[in-house]
Amino acid sequence: MASFLRGLFLSSLAILSVQATPSRPRWIGRRSVTVDLVRNPSYAPNGPANYVRALQKWGVTVPDDLTNSFIGDSGDVNAASIKGDREYLSRVGFGTPLQYLNMDLDTGSADVWVYSSETQGVAPGSRPVYVIENSITAKKINGSVWRISYGDGSTAYGTAYHDNIDIGGITVRNAVVESALSISEELLEDKFLDGIFGLPYALSSKVSPRVPTVLSTLTKQLDQKLFTVDLKYHADDGVYTFGYIDKDRYIGDIHYTPLVPDAQYWQLNFTGIHVEPQNVWYLYQWTAIVDTGTSLMLLSDNIVKYYYTMVPEAKQDAFTGGLWVYPCNISRLPDFDLGFGDHVVTVPGKYMNYTTLTNDPTTCMGGLQSFGTDDFGILGDIFLKATYTVFDIAKGRVGFARKQLDL
Ligand SMILES: *[C@@H]1O[C@H](CO)[C@@H](O)[C@H](O)[C@H]1NC(C)=O
Ligand SMILES: *[C@@H]1O[C@H](CO)[C@@H](O)[C@H](O)[C@H]1NC(C)=O
Ligand SMILES: *[C@@H]1O[C@H](CO)[C@@H](O)[C@H](O)[C@H]1NC(C)=O
Ligand SMILES: *[C@@H]1O[C@H](CO)[C@@H](O)[C@H](O)[C@H]1NC(C)=O
Repeated sequence: MASFLRGLFLSSLAILSVQATPSRPRWIGRRSVTVDLVRNPSYAPNGPANYVRALQKWGVTVPDDLTNSFIGDSGDVNAASIKGDREYLSRVGFGTPLQYLNMDLDTGSADVWVYSSETQGVAPGSRPVYVIENSITAKKINGSVWRISYGDGSTAYGTAYHDNIDIGGITVRNAVVESALSISEELLEDKFLDGIFGLPYALSSKVSPRVPTVLSTLTKQLDQKLFTVDLKYHADDGVYTFGYIDKDRYIGDIHYTPLVPDAQYWQLNFTGIHVEPQNVWYLYQWTAIVDTGTSLMLLSDNIVKYYYTMVPEAKQDAFTGGLWVYPCNISRLPDFDLGFGDHVVTVPGKYMNYTTLTNDPTTCMGGLQSFGTDDFGILGDIFLKATYTVFDIAKGRVGFARKQLDL
């Protein structure tokens, strides 16, 4: 992605070739074993869970497989908007006792990394970090290294520890916590962000030698193998739920779209677009990644050009390398509809207006921008704010439902 995007919005989509690798990732195999165990009719539904709880109560060490297979956990965590929806942050606890950090929950990458007591250039006490020495459960993973690059050009690298993580009241024991030794300037500038929490479909983390992702460890203990997101427009009451769907947060039915074959990311196809006030729909198969870690909606050039033909005085700004901008004082932006089979997600015009330009507060930048390719795109927060979304890990699909919007 071009460097002009830096600073204007976050794109934490981990860089990887878009070609899907044909071999299926290993943890899918492990997951199906777990599902079989849970479904085994010879087990009484709550017996094993009671057994595990009893063992834990008496301080007996429970084998991981047993814990992970039978306790049906669920929980939720708040997602607060930062700086006009530039990103959303959630509080996640690390270690024993828990140390809470503000994490960007990111469906577009696989690594869970944090600022830590090892991070270079961070003076003690100057910002929240995971203090490794203060966690009695932290265990270094000998010889482990990781390095990640995100879509906005930012990078980080470091080492890894096994430790407990608490997300939404669910304890993930022995999860892999990536401790940053070095963090690039783009990320350091974001004073609110203490780390990124990858929630990938099948993508592996960048830790070498290879370790399971935190989500794959967490998934084994969830009641239902799914999580949901409900991000709010310019508000702090967004929520991620893990292991359950919150019926109070959507209206009508959830409509599911399967992931593309061999998907690494939460990648699916949408099949039509419509822009107010036209009465035609354009039908085609576009493919896109559903990515909570990217602020904008980035789609193919022709869709984006078409949308901005309906916006008075919209133009590509040469200063910012071709971003679509328009005068802030136009009456409104048109609604943008995306079709997923017979389900339509409407992104209201109000949500399509992203922000003013820093150097010119009378010029506004749209939330829809070009990804520069023919049929590949990213459905980031601009899109996600307009819908209730279910990431169904067990069935390899993403569900969308209507919800109450702030209009
Ligand atoms: C990791 O390294 C430490 C110190 O070098 C050693 O005591 C420990 O046994 C090693 N652990 C493993 C799992 O290799
Ligand atoms: C998704 O769209 C791509 C084109 O962008 C097409 O090649 C592919 O067959 C579609 N896949 C599914 C599962 O519909
Ligand atoms: C919008 O602002 C510009 C100056 O920035 C002004 O020339 C124009 O008349 C305004 N348009 C409306 C509709 O208020
Ligand atoms: C877009 O948002 C800016 C604030 O970021 C606001 O000043 C402007 O009126 C909005 N314009 C439209 C057309 O919604």
